[in-house]
Amino acid sequence: MQRFNDLADFSSEEIRGLIDLARRLERQPEPRALEGKVLSLLFLSPSLRTLTSFQAAMIRLGGGAFVVSPEMSIHGLESRSGIVMDGAAAEHIREAVPVIASYGDAIGIRAFAKRENLQADLDDREFNEIASLVGDKPLINMESAINHPCQSLADWKTLDDFEIPANGGRFVLSWAYHPKPLPLAVPAATVHMAAMRGMDVVVLRPEGFELPPAIMGKARAAAEASGGRVIETTDRREAMEGAHVIYAKSWSSTRYYTDRAGDKALREQLVDWCVDEPWFENARPDCRFMHCLPVRRGVVVADRILDGPRSIVIREAHNRMLVQMAVLYRMLKG
Ligand code: CP
Repeated sequence: MQRFNDLADFSSEEIRGLIDLARRLERQPEPRALEGKVLSLLFLSPSLRTLTSFQAAMIRLGGGAFVVSPEMSIHGLESRSGIVMDGAAAEHIREAVPVIASYGDAIGIRAFAKRENLQADLDDREFNEIASLVGDKPLINMESAINHPCQSLADWKTLDDFEIPANGGRFVLSWAYHPKPLPLAVPAATVHMAAMRGMDVVVLRPEGFELPPAIMGKARAAAEASGGRVIETTDRREAMEGAHVIYAKSWSSTRYYTDRAGDKALREQLVDWCVDEPWFENARPDCRFMHCLPVRRGVVVADRILDGPRSIVIREAHNRMLVQMAVLYRMLKG
């Protein structure tokens, strides 16, 4: 495997193969499988799970990893093209990225959306530009403007772990309130993952938070191939009818994507979009709650849901390490 950038680059069978490998490595550890191998990790955006789970995954397979991020005592990084570097930044990513890549056997990169231009983010322009600098090094997308494949692979495994049906299972991806406008990467990756898994997918969101046609079209194409279905609604009761799982996530208003004041004014009216027990009234009694984390308690979801039997978020986060071990194994062991 040379790139792990998008679940859409793989067949469903290949995804299931990676999940089977993750299970095997959990059951039968291979602590020397990647002996001598080094993973470079470039974090241009913050993280807890991705940062630690990749390091833990490499250690468990006998290899090592190093992290570079702007918060460390590195030179200030410039990413704009064609700029005269007479300001604070001392180094351009055009040199920094190939150097970092050259020290490892594979590289993981995280670069969140800048949210300055919706089309640029939908096209993943910044990530693709950085990715073009790694040469022939195997590359892992650790969350870009529009994708989070490691999260989606872990989420697929989590759904399997809890025996949530693939074909016929109802998966509700719900927008939730958050004081800040967050990127589209997780909702885009999640709706596609659930559709590719063959689920009956409902995107539940308020007016003004529609997922762009490019995201919905990709998910619908995956559903067509898998026998699943994707619909979008503003009606919570309709969405939750018979739901097996609700996956909460906040994202930016796509109506006011680059208009911070417009987004703020709209989202401030939506503080009641906090997942709580009444949401589950007409869902299946065992309906589960998922979230990629980090999550704001009492804002995105009530404590009693997060701390109660519906929540599978800790297993979901643990699965990040297991599936990334499988990706690294395929990438670095061959
Ligand atoms: N879910 C996720 O990617 O978590 P971090 O942002 O903490 O890495």
